[in-house]
Amino acid sequence: MNVHDSEKMSGILKGQGYIETDNPRDADLVIFNTCSIRQKAEQKFYSELGRIKELKKRKPELTIAVAGCIAQQDGQNILKRVPYVDYVMGPQNIHKVRDILKSGISRISIDDNPLIADTELPVERKDGVRAWINIMYGCNNFCSYCIVPYTRGRERSRPSGAILNEIKGLADKGYVEVTLLGQNVNSYASDADFPELLKAVDKIEGIKRIRFVTSNPKDISDNLIAVIRDRDKVCEHIHLPLQSGSTRILSLMNRKYGYDDYMRTVDKLRKEIPAIAITSDIIAGFPDETVEDHRLTLKALREIEFDGIFAFHYSVRAGTRAATMPGQIEDSIKLSRLNEILELQNDISERKNKALLNSVQKILLEMPNEKDLAKISGRTQTNKIVNVIFNETNKTFNPGEILCVRIIKANRHSLEGTIT
Ligand code: 5AD
Ligand code: SF4
Repeated sequence: MNVHDSEKMSGILKGQGYIETDNPRDADLVIFNTCSIRQKAEQKFYSELGRIKELKKRKPELTIAVAGCIAQQDGQNILKRVPYVDYVMGPQNIHKVRDILKSGISRISIDDNPLIADTELPVERKDGVRAWINIMYGCNNFCSYCIVPYTRGRERSRPSGAILNEIKGLADKGYVEVTLLGQNVNSYASDADFPELLKAVDKIEGIKRIRFVTSNPKDISDNLIAVIRDRDKVCEHIHLPLQSGSTRILSLMNRKYGYDDYMRTVDKLRKEIPAIAITSDIIAGFPDETVEDHRLTLKALREIEFDGIFAFHYSVRAGTRAATMPGQIEDSIKLSRLNEILELQNDISERKNKALLNSVQKILLEMPNEKDLAKISGRTQTNKIVNVIFNETNKTFNPGEILCVRIIKANRHSLEGTIT
């Protein structure tokens, strides 16, 4: 979501004559687009901000802006704490970058005149094959650990016409894969619902693959499952954050489903779409999590056998309900539980990847692998990365092309294959 917000800020600035540079020393304007989902992201930003101070000393006319969720969360305090910051813009105010060239604009834009769902912004995309498209903004769920509803505001869905136009424009430019983005994509509610939107995107000529993140387990409808099953372009992969295997903890997290509900959804998905890959997010050490609750999460991982997970130790976010819950867990315990989760999942991911050995997969080719130019990488329908090894006779490749590849090696987080 943040990377795509950066693409929009780049698009606006490019339209105003700015040119991007990789070297901050050459820059007249530096924008930090920040994330505050966990403390680590925040710490990284504040240490980077400290480093830029030297640059500002040497070049006083350098403009420094802080955008994104930390901007929204810390607002005025950033300007007080870090006087060399010129502008602060929340994630609902990224369009304000277009005013940055004008004098006399407010130094802080965190809630005034927020971006509405049907505002169209120019987007500067780097990849010519795959594109992200926002279909909705914000979140209404208030999971008790999460800062997103406070930083990105209430749920707003874009009109389907605007989304379809954007995707048609991308197809005309040669893009072949789109990823529909939203904090809860499957809660999309505009002039169409999410399955209807997917069906309309499926009809766009030139688009070969459709992905979407992130789905909320509480809103997986039978219609959505049918669309993934029946439409070839809609990829057989769903990212479905479980967070915990304990229904008691899920309730404290305010997730609005129990473990049994989640399992029913997984069973239905696998019954209707046997090849589907399911990935997830897990939080270790939520307040009041007992050894038994943690054991239930490990049991869930063994039972479900996700294709992959992102796991995090619980991070206190000021202002959220969980921050003041009793039973906060010591860091060392959180970390040891996280390690257990990751170790178990590593074995499962590796086993699942090994099961693909010798199979033939349809790979959509991406950009050349920087470490080894003889290898080109792509992804399976199920979103697994495959490094494709080319031999002398078939060295040419076209990013965006779909090839049949035989899997010859399976690692924990990637596969290797040759063209069949
Ligand atoms: N601590 C740890 N992980 C968190 N996530 C969100 N908020 C927190 C937090 N306070 C994780 C969730 C979510 C993912 C994007 O980030 O697992 O699904
Ligand atoms: Fe955060 Fe929950 Fe909304 Fe996801 S659904 S963004 S975890 S509040």
